[in-house]
Amino acid sequence: MEFSIKQSNSEKQRSACVVVGVYAGGKLSPAALALDRIAQHHLSEVIARGDMDGKLANTLVLHRVPGIVAERVLLVGLGKAAEFSAKQFIDAVRASLGALHKTASKDAVFYLTDLAVKGRDEAWKIKQCVLHAAESVFRCDQLKSKPADAPALRKLQLGCADKPGTAAQTALEQAKAIASGMALTKTLGNLPGNICTPTYLADQATAMAKTHKLKVTILEEKDMEKLGMHSLLSVSHGSRQPAKLITLEYQGADKKQKPIVLVGKGITFDSGGISLKPGAEMDEMKYDMCGAASVLGTLQAIAEMKLKLNVVIVIPSSENLPDGSASKPGDIVKSMSGQTIEILNTDAEGRLVLCDALTYAARFEPDTVVDIATLTGACVIALGHVASGLFSNEDKLAKELLAAGDEAQDRAWHMPLWDDYQQQLDSNFADMQNIGGRAAGSITAACFLSRFTKDYRWAHLDIAGTAWKSGKEKGATGRPVPLLTQYLINRAAAK
Ligand code: BES
Ligand code: MN
Ligand code: ZN
Repeated sequence: MEFSIKQSNSEKQRSACVVVGVYAGGKLSPAALALDRIAQHHLSEVIARGDMDGKLANTLVLHRVPGIVAERVLLVGLGKAAEFSAKQFIDAVRASLGALHKTASKDAVFYLTDLAVKGRDEAWKIKQCVLHAAESVFRCDQLKSKPADAPALRKLQLGCADKPGTAAQTALEQAKAIASGMALTKTLGNLPGNICTPTYLADQATAMAKTHKLKVTILEEKDMEKLGMHSLLSVSHGSRQPAKLITLEYQGADKKQKPIVLVGKGITFDSGGISLKPGAEMDEMKYDMCGAASVLGTLQAIAEMKLKLNVVIVIPSSENLPDGSASKPGDIVKSMSGQTIEILNTDAEGRLVLCDALTYAARFEPDTVVDIATLTGACVIALGHVASGLFSNEDKLAKELLAAGDEAQDRAWHMPLWDDYQQQLDSNFADMQNIGGRAAGSITAACFLSRFTKDYRWAHLDIAGTAWKSGKEKGATGRPVPLLTQYLINRAAAK
């Protein structure tokens, strides 16, 4: 889909559809008011007749409105003006897109950016419109023999009351890059385990390196063996697919500037291993590489934006399957850090691959390391599908990530990482065990990782509840690409 910003008056817009808002009680938004004047109160009459009550997300398509050059006018309800904030804005945008796609409009002009949203500026509104529009036309039909019909809507213009300033233009460019990063993340996430293997992810990274002139390094199992990554390798023992450790380096700033390292969990299928998962919904464990997909999507976004920052992504990738040579409960392995781990549950494999990747990350002399992982079912119980779990060894970093998530409408929630939880990982036979019992499952998982990240500033995002949707709408969400990209944009701006 093509996006642009356009400064012009809603009444003069020649297009298939103009989209304007109506508050509950029939109060018109500024753009709707302008249309109404030219149309000799046609809009007010329709509203007075009761066909559009202005209730949030209600929509009404009007054809051939007198005096208006656009073929259609789409009215969208905004709810009570006093209650109109970020969530209501997004509900209205999504409803407009839904109604727009039901028409045959090939292009449209959105006049929702003129709505006052508490605490949000025009740049934010532009970004949200672009991201939701991109989401509304995203298809995942490469594996269907007959792809679904492409949406009619090709072009979306965002009406700008004032001259489109550089802030608006920058917001548009950033939003396009984030949307393209999210599309990559979703596409990779949705691919089944028989296609998206560790080798496939490595090939994708290599292709991306070519397109965006990045440095790519793929470590094979024998390389990892030499580095002493026995924790990571213990996970791939049960699989016929070789594990890979994938690294991409993006240099957007001076060589001397320390990079931000993003580490993404890349388990391309998690059966649980010998601690086999129950069968119901096990297919969803193809999404256990969404952390990896999100760091690839984020890197693509910042490469497209040419962000002035150095960023490295590291992806420990493996399958987790049961087999004669798979790890068994009770096995003890030595991690690259030298610390030994008693594997009491082979289904807690994410932390086993991440710990070695986090030790490896230190070689980039990072400014900051953030890992992203579909790590625990417990995080889904704690936060549902709304917020990602956020853990950090530095409060300032946690606050920056929370703020980025809030700004990008891709929120996280700060969870505790107190020492009081560490004892749950005590083992009688090794330096630690890989599970901490049922209580505080997402916290003890983060505690486990914290034992490998003492040398640098670090945060961990548990995206088990936010990376994909189940049920009828099953599919990867592209989260937390918006959060991560916004964080990196903010970091580049602070330099
Ligand atoms: N990939 C799963 C986490 C997961 C489970 C994400 C369900 C989304 C939905 C992870 O590898 C896992 O299996 N974790 C275990 C840990 C437990 C054995 C301590 C879990 O959450 O059950
Ligand atoms: Mn698991
Ligand atoms: Zn897993």
